[in-house]
Amino acid sequence: MLGLRRAAAALLPPTAACVRASGSMAALLVSQPRYAWLRELGLEEENPGVYNGRWGGSGEVVTTYCPANNEPIARVRQASLEDYEETVKKAKEAWKVWADIPAPKRGEIVRQIGDALRQKIKVLGSLVSLEMGKIFVEGVGEVQEYVDVCDYAVGLSRMIGGPILPSERPGHALIEQWNPVGLVGIITAFNFPVAVYGWNSAIAMICGNACLWIIAKVLEDNKVPGAICSLACGGAEIGTAMARDERMDLLSFTGSTKVGKQVALMVQERFGRSLLELGGNNAIIVFEDADLNLVIPSALFAAVGTAGQRCTTARRLFLHENIHDEVVAKLAKAYAQVRIGDPWDSDTLYGPLHTKEAVKMYLDAVEQAKQQGGSVVCGGKVINRPGNYVEPTIVTGLPHNAPIVHTETFAPILYVLKFKVEEEVFTWNNEVKQGLSSSIFTKDLGRIFRWLGPKGSDCGIVNVNIPTSGAEIGGAFGGEKHTGGGRESGSDSWKLYMRRSTCTINYSKDLPLAQGIKFQ
Ligand SMILES: NC(=O)c1ccc[n+]([C@@H]2O[C@H](COP(=O)([O-])OP(=O)(O)OC[C@H]3O[C@@H](n4cnc5c(N)ncnc54)[C@H](O)[C@@H]3O)[C@@H](O)[C@H]2O)c1
Repeated sequence: MLGLRRAAAALLPPTAACVRASGSMAALLVSQPRYAWLRELGLEEENPGVYNGRWGGSGEVVTTYCPANNEPIARVRQASLEDYEETVKKAKEAWKVWADIPAPKRGEIVRQIGDALRQKIKVLGSLVSLEMGKIFVEGVGEVQEYVDVCDYAVGLSRMIGGPILPSERPGHALIEQWNPVGLVGIITAFNFPVAVYGWNSAIAMICGNACLWIIAKVLEDNKVPGAICSLACGGAEIGTAMARDERMDLLSFTGSTKVGKQVALMVQERFGRSLLELGGNNAIIVFEDADLNLVIPSALFAAVGTAGQRCTTARRLFLHENIHDEVVAKLAKAYAQVRIGDPWDSDTLYGPLHTKEAVKMYLDAVEQAKQQGGSVVCGGKVINRPGNYVEPTIVTGLPHNAPIVHTETFAPILYVLKFKVEEEVFTWNNEVKQGLSSSIFTKDLGRIFRWLGPKGSDCGIVNVNIPTSGAEIGGAFGGEKHTGGGRESGSDSWKLYMRRSTCTINYSKDLPLAQGIKFQ
């Protein structure tokens, strides 16, 4: 498995946008006593961005910045194309060793990876918070998600496999055999730097496919090649090389629909296999009979949590016309109480956007919303403090099909829209290009099952009385249409990391043909 991460401070992948070519002379946070805990993770002023059994890298040196104050954290030496080439070769070799290890033994190594993560969970969570900007509890939650997926994968390592099917021919066995696809490339998005990698790597590893940091030590302790989990920090150049590379048996891409489409087309061009986890434009629908004690905190968490930078963030809130004004007033009150601050302070609920570019996109979207007929009920401005902070924003009065409502702006802007009847609002839920997550709030049992049914939500995640975000790892995660159709994590997502062979074995002395065909 080869993980592509946007230039990382050795452990985590911030976006290309928040990394800049080195040159800044400001003191790095990693060298300041307040951030001495970064050393606990082995981070230095300059960190290697390549791992293939050995740490290295000979590409561009970039600096990674903290979005809460825009101060430089550390530098990373990224992968060059030569590093990439060497890493793929080593990963392919390592796969030969890994594929021979029985799945439950692979599961045991994944269990140790989960334990190693558990031991560093707080400090890793702090690093996520420092580098990505999400609040500390969410940073820790992300590492917890990786731990959970490891536990899940351990159990799965004794359960994956195909059925023995009844053969129509006497003396024949019809068996479904599942084998690892080989080398899995993983390209991750900035907003879930740990979890997305974890979902992919833990499951892919138990499936027998040929990741880092702390993981490298577990692999080395188990005397298996470190290149099983390789790393190449980089941007579009390395990503494109992966997409075009015939040796990449599966390319799992998490990111925007725009880049995902380019990647998917490159992979398809070579008839390769891709797993796409792309953008969302998620809606919460609140009916008249909904319990507003559930609705307000759910909408707040889904729209404001992670500063609106989750793929499952609620961007559209459909309110029945009879409760519209009441819910907007209550929500605006809740928004006013959101504690804004440094993401690593335990009191903070709301941190910065990831980059300065994201702040520009936010301001641009607010402007477009106004031009298209929207009224800003609260928020809409940049917050006057260091870092990339913007106000969580509610916009009302837009038509359900306004262009800005149909656009995923990766920022905390919630469009509140009015509806009258179930049929129209289910249609409006589905009319956007994306199909990731969706929620209704109601007590009507018939409506709940219509929502889950063929004329209900067309999304991959279909919720009732809970927010659009915050999925559990046990279910399959992903969405339809422009979200890409991929599924990761739980249920039978493991099948995407394997190839299926239908095997027919004749253990008789005759040669009957299927469908009773006589060929004599
Ligand atoms: N569906 C999901 O599970 C999920 C999860 C997290 C994020 N997302 C989506 O990701 C987006 C935000 O993340 P982002 O800003 O990091 O996305 P992005 O598309 O800008 O970047 C994603 C990754 O693609 C790499 N990349 C850039 N150009 C490339 C190219 N030409 N070829 C190959 N790789 C290339 C980047 O280096 C990065 O690692 C949002 O749209 C969000 O909805 C989806």
